[in-house]
Amino acid sequence: MCGIVGYTGSKQAAPILLDGLEKLEYRGYDSAGIAIFDGKNINIKKATGKLKVLHELTHGGAVMPGKSGIGHTRWATHGVPSENNAHPHYNADKTIAVVHNGIIENYIKLKKRLEDRGYVFTSDTDTEVIAHLLDYYYKGDPIDAAIKVMHRVEGSYALGIIYADIPGKVFAVRKDSPLIVGKGADENFIASDVPALLKYTRDVCYINNEEIVELSEDDIIFYNTDGEKIEKEFSYIDWDADAAEKGGYEHFMLKEMNEEPKTVHDTLMPRIKGDSIVIDELTLSAEEINKIRQIHIVACGSAYHTGMTAKYIFEEMARIPVTVDVASEFRYRDPILYPEDLVIIISQSGETADSLEALRSVKKQGILTLAIVNVVGSSIAREADQVMYTNAGPEIAVATTKAYSAQLIALYLLSIHFSKARGLVSDEEVKLFIRDLKKLPDQIELLLHNEENIQRFANRYIAAKDVFFMGRGIDYAISLEGSLKLKEISYIHSEAYAAGELKHGTISLIEEGTLVAAVLTQEKLFKKTISNMVEVKTRGAFVLAVTNEGNTEIEKAADYVIYIPETNHYFTNSLAIIPLQLFSYYVAVGRGCDVDKPRNLAKSVTVE
Ligand code: M6R
Repeated sequence: MCGIVGYTGSKQAAPILLDGLEKLEYRGYDSAGIAIFDGKNINIKKATGKLKVLHELTHGGAVMPGKSGIGHTRWATHGVPSENNAHPHYNADKTIAVVHNGIIENYIKLKKRLEDRGYVFTSDTDTEVIAHLLDYYYKGDPIDAAIKVMHRVEGSYALGIIYADIPGKVFAVRKDSPLIVGKGADENFIASDVPALLKYTRDVCYINNEEIVELSEDDIIFYNTDGEKIEKEFSYIDWDADAAEKGGYEHFMLKEMNEEPKTVHDTLMPRIKGDSIVIDELTLSAEEINKIRQIHIVACGSAYHTGMTAKYIFEEMARIPVTVDVASEFRYRDPILYPEDLVIIISQSGETADSLEALRSVKKQGILTLAIVNVVGSSIAREADQVMYTNAGPEIAVATTKAYSAQLIALYLLSIHFSKARGLVSDEEVKLFIRDLKKLPDQIELLLHNEENIQRFANRYIAAKDVFFMGRGIDYAISLEGSLKLKEISYIHSEAYAAGELKHGTISLIEEGTLVAAVLTQEKLFKKTISNMVEVKTRGAFVLAVTNEGNTEIEKAADYVIYIPETNHYFTNSLAIIPLQLFSYYVAVGRGCDVDKPRNLAKSVTVE
């Protein structure tokens, strides 16, 4: 949701900023811009469309000399994608430039006041108020100006700021939008996310809410909102630099799907000790686990779908009542929470605004929170009482695949751990669960090898108008994810239904040749879902079934079958989702869509 970079050092800033923005383009890609201080003036170049347009316009940054600057890649919130609305934004005399990620909620009021004072706005963005407010408050002390602005604006922001009269310095502030500082030799950086910095430094510091940073070539100073200097610790990022590169694959999504066996292994194995599941990072005692009265799972998008799967597992295995909510709904309703409840927040990025606010609201009520997060040091990870990391490494494609698979593993482990603590599963059962979990990476690999067949099948549906997915129980949760994957990257209309619900209205949309993907991995529900398949087939649907090896009875009701290897019925999502991800991917490729950067979307949704 917008990417920010900033640089000051001994090298030319523009090529470094463009390079950093390229790594952040997954956060927003409808326009981009950079502001460079050339020793006298601040020069800005902006362009609508993908970053490569700005790259060409500036000849890779060569036409913008200067050793400090800020850059931005945008996911529009206020104002259409256009050159005027692209960041950076100037004050009137072009002595201050600002980039912003977030939303200024009171910008209309602020804009009106500034206009009354004679300020003229040239964009429709909320960000431009920051440039003019800084102009209004800046009297030679940039920290004081930043603090005054922070006191006036409401909403979320990560800001990068440069001043023409403060050569070689970059300032940054943050509230509820991610921002990190990178420390190099004779150079320092700010960025919205780690991949932008990996090529230059691995020493990073996460800026906390309401902190201000002043960067120069050889110094980094942090301040609080009283203007006092504060000490902060840097951490070392030990990611493989290739992790954020395509590594020969055509798309990040394809690469990330192919990383799923490893991801599942990396999420699982550190928590398997012999025949036991040991989740070291959780400090919940067996007594506390036994006291849990209800679990509330809160998440968005695909993470919500893993929560849906977990509901079935926690309820059946651990006998704990579970509610699952999308975070944007949860935070604005008045859920009934008991002091013994546990709220689980699931988020790949750890920065999703609605999930973060939901977490904060339950924490205020004293409810125990546990986060399942991929990005180390992200806001949700830092603010939750307990954290389980998913170890998926950087996920760049907007459509999640490997992080989704890793979340499932974390949730399986948690369910088994809770069930064991509550005396509901025996040592022998845990042993069998572990046996099946350990097989998942190889089984996923096997399913990935079926890629060519799925591609051939997908090619038949590149002109599809509507696709429906259906299943019951866990298979319904899988269907929801299969459907989201398809629509977000291929732009084909798709819906997922609890199989028994289709005939309560939606079946009227089935026409001759409509593709219906049925997921049947829960043996006790096979017959029921087969009946629903027959219902749509008799109305002309072409039925694709994803089911367990050996369930050949399905061939009577399906036109095309994809079999998944045998596993415990709790873990089938991890396997059934693979062909559905591949199907979506190849449909999108066949339609010529920009798979990694689907229109209108962004990877990290840091606005509500
Ligand atoms: O970073 P998060 O897991 O909190 O993100 C949640 C959703 O925005 C995300 O899963 C989204 O639905 C993906 N585009 C799905 O592929």
